[in-house]
Amino acid sequence: MAKDLMFSCTECGAKSSKWSGQCDACQAWNTITEDQALSTSGPKKKSLGGMRGKTIPLTDLATQEKAPPRTLSGVDELDRVLGGGLTKASALLVGGDPGIGKSTLLLQAAARFARNGLKVIYISGEESNAQVQMRARRLGLEKSPVKLASETNLRDILTTLEKEAPDLAIIDSIQTMWADNVDSAPGSVSQVRSSAHELTTFAKRNDMAVVMVGHVTKEGAIAGPRVVEHMVDTVLYFEGERGHQFRILRSVKNRFGPADEIGVFEMTGKGLAEVKNPSALFLSERGTPAPGSVVFGGIEGTRPMLCEIQALVAPSPHSQPRRSVVGWDGGRLAMILAVLESRCGVPFTGLDVYLNVAGGLRITEPAADLAVAAALVSAREDAALPADAVVFGEISLSGALRPVVQTENRLKEAQKLGFTSAITPHQQKQVAASGLSLRHPQDLAGFVQDIFGDR
Ligand code: TYD
Ligand code: MG
Repeated sequence: MAKDLMFSCTECGAKSSKWSGQCDACQAWNTITEDQALSTSGPKKKSLGGMRGKTIPLTDLATQEKAPPRTLSGVDELDRVLGGGLTKASALLVGGDPGIGKSTLLLQAAARFARNGLKVIYISGEESNAQVQMRARRLGLEKSPVKLASETNLRDILTTLEKEAPDLAIIDSIQTMWADNVDSAPGSVSQVRSSAHELTTFAKRNDMAVVMVGHVTKEGAIAGPRVVEHMVDTVLYFEGERGHQFRILRSVKNRFGPADEIGVFEMTGKGLAEVKNPSALFLSERGTPAPGSVVFGGIEGTRPMLCEIQALVAPSPHSQPRRSVVGWDGGRLAMILAVLESRCGVPFTGLDVYLNVAGGLRITEPAADLAVAAALVSAREDAALPADAVVFGEISLSGALRPVVQTENRLKEAQKLGFTSAITPHQQKQVAASGLSLRHPQDLAGFVQDIFGDR
């Protein structure tokens, strides 16, 4: 019988069925190794079904155990994203582009947790102690009781953590860690994966929370944090546009709380500051309402967030007109354009279309459809929407408008920020009167007629 072997590249993780000197995927030399199953003893002999193992005890779903204890940092934006504070014996991954502010965020968080009674150790594999100390001074945290070390040798780190027994250890970053039992360079898939695995199991066994920093490179690098996402309990991504001061901490996975929750921060000269009212911030640069500008009543996680959607439509000098999007999905834009063209008789042929979500925010909700359509038609017709209106709703391919979740929260936020009207799909359920005047167009064609019909 042919041997059932698999090989993989220790640099990029690519699989192949045969050994070779050079990896086909990443072109690295001498990186192909035979895969060894870690958990089983020796090669497979028979199918498992035919062998006798020991029976495992089964139990009920009911439990007497208390919920794991949590510690608050006191930074609301952070605690909410964590699902109500930091959980004991857990592993977290904080991913994000290099330079976005991960180290800054975690140093500030470390200081907060230390102030609230946790024993915290911060280990940097990227910066020297002096560099981290300089940053601490700049952030005004030099007196904080956080312990610091600059090290990349994972064995030494684990030995130290075992002796010191902290409540929280921060590892900055997982790509710099080097486990001496793995035969490849730091940053490679095998190193990242096994370092993360060691740290995670260590954390659970020693009742410690461990936070690992992971860089994501622009190409979505294979050796990036993706390979450890499934191991850890919580995955947070720190995002934002370089040119903007806003930073968003987003939970994409959380075993201890809701996913998709966000925290909003602002990068200042003295580190990251909480933004308690993001809507106000995202709308703060809005001048007098211009054609193509629409305020979208959005929700991020459990949080209402108003933001401005801007569109520009101009005659195209190209045979293939441009479609350019920042902060939204390009495919979704194409869909809205098609629906406007075929269901509402508003063609964009021969026109360049630019769409932008102001402030460097990235929106993923389909609820933004109607606001995008409104911005596009407004830009094309050169007619501004009423200045005091927020817009939201999902558009289907038939041109029908679908109601969206959390309508009431969106309306409340709009009212809080001084808006007096809202344009939304009709809701089956009556929303509690919010003091806004509501308009419910029949469908997208009705909306276009309603708002721009008299032009
Ligand atoms: P950093 O936390 O080092 O990013 P990461 O760990 O994600 O690579 O922060 C990088 C940027 O933040 C750096 O370009 C400088 C800026 N910054 C400030 O604007 N204010 C501050 O107080 C600090 C510490 C950094
Ligand atoms: Mg850093």
